[in-house]
Amino acid sequence: FEYDLLVLNGLVVTHDETGEFDIAVKGSKIAKVVPRGSLGEVKSKKTIDAKGGVVMPGGVDAHVHLDEPALFGKGESADNYETGTRSAICGGTTTLITFAPQRKTEPSLLAALEATHARARDNCYSDYSFHLICSNAGPLAISEFSALRQAGISSLKIYMTYEALQLADSEILDVLFEARKQKIVTMIHAENGAIIDWTIKKLEEKNLFAPKYHVTSHPPVAEIEATYRAISLSSFIDVPILIVHVSSPSAAKHISDAQKKGLPVYAETCPQYLFLTRKDLDKPGFEGAKCVCSPPPREGEQDHEVIWRGLENGTFTVLSSDHCPFLYDNSEIGKKSVISAEYPNGHFKYIPNGCPGVETRMALALSANRLKLQKFVEVTSTNAAKLYGLYPRKGALIPGESDADMTIWYAEKEMQEFELKNEMLHHNVDYTPYEGRTLKQWPRYTVLRGEVVWARDDGGLVGKKGFGEFLKRDVSSLAGSVSQEGWDVERF
Ligand code: URP
Ligand code: ZN
Ligand code: ZN
Ligand code: ZN
Repeated sequence: FEYDLLVLNGLVVTHDETGEFDIAVKGSKIAKVVPRGSLGEVKSKKTIDAKGGVVMPGGVDAHVHLDEPALFGKGESADNYETGTRSAICGGTTTLITFAPQRKTEPSLLAALEATHARARDNCYSDYSFHLICSNAGPLAISEFSALRQAGISSLKIYMTYEALQLADSEILDVLFEARKQKIVTMIHAENGAIIDWTIKKLEEKNLFAPKYHVTSHPPVAEIEATYRAISLSSFIDVPILIVHVSSPSAAKHISDAQKKGLPVYAETCPQYLFLTRKDLDKPGFEGAKCVCSPPPREGEQDHEVIWRGLENGTFTVLSSDHCPFLYDNSEIGKKSVISAEYPNGHFKYIPNGCPGVETRMALALSANRLKLQKFVEVTSTNAAKLYGLYPRKGALIPGESDADMTIWYAEKEMQEFELKNEMLHHNVDYTPYEGRTLKQWPRYTVLRGEVVWARDDGGLVGKKGFGEFLKRDVSSLAGSVSQEGWDVERF
């Protein structure tokens, strides 16, 4: 056989090109991308007839929480590396960047990295890497940044809220300063923890505990203030940052203003900020808990509109899931731990923050039919690969360079609209916030390094646990500091 896989008759879409191409795969790599019908007589072990459906580089989801210990003191992850990466490939995502969380009581980042490797190793269906969560920015952690780079880690996440994770501004400066030297991209959870804690107390004084008060307790100003502060601190140090999970239009405005000044400020948004609103938390009983995440979903269609436009115009670099899985109903964690004699309908402040969504991210966004296809590829795959040092191995279909990772969709006439149900999904969570939504598309095939791992009409999940590989990452090919010179405090 000359090839291991042919993908014929598709409309191939990458971030910078669309065309009727046939694709040939040799081993784990893309070997050829040629005009339809021009491969000639070749022998291949396997052939997929893409039948006029869209073929794109496999999805890259750069914000996923799996198997994290109960860091916020609010329950354990419902998904581990096995179930989370399984869910990913069934939804068209072939690469995940998950989090390796450091506890405040654990001074070493390398120890946190090792512990996370142990949880992931041999368990993954998709390829994977980690962002280190730095919650203890002491001298040991800072001194380990260069070793992290050697270990293939080129990004960190830090928090401006959550007692268990939050860094003070001086610690944020320490992190950013060393990140600049080591060419590390810092992701920032930008919410003002003090505003949130103060507002929670005020709501408690009025005996307001229902899930919907989660939104009230995370007002837009908490996100807006912290976003502006994060931009200010990073521009002082002259180092690239990415603001994660942006939900507020005014925060997005601060980000686009910074970008217009030429600052290396990147941003991420998530499906929950395109499809959910505060009304989704205002449901009878405890139901609203299913849509509790931070920042929370905002007011309504006007906000969704601004977020969509931000994806179109480049304010947002990536559309990630922020898959953060908790069980709704479980005897030990989840529902029962927040419903008590004292709070018979639960208390919003004890609801774990986060929604599942690694499997629905791509289908939801594509079904909305809102982004041009090349832009869709850019924000769901290519940009994450570029920003986090995986391009062009991931996020592209470049012969000889890219892994043969592909998400293959249905031709329009071959696809029936359907109603999403949690029982269709492959995560280990007992709900989806998108239950009952009508979807127009779902991946027909997912291909990872030349192997078909998902075939919706032909076996469903056919990938194997343990096939997923750890990806050593290089420096970002998108983000650099503005000045090439070293940083000197005296210049200010
Ligand atoms: O509510 C959220 N986003 N939970 C996940 C943790 C985080 O801050 O990303
Ligand atoms: Zn966060
Ligand atoms: Zn909407
Ligand atoms: Zn998150």
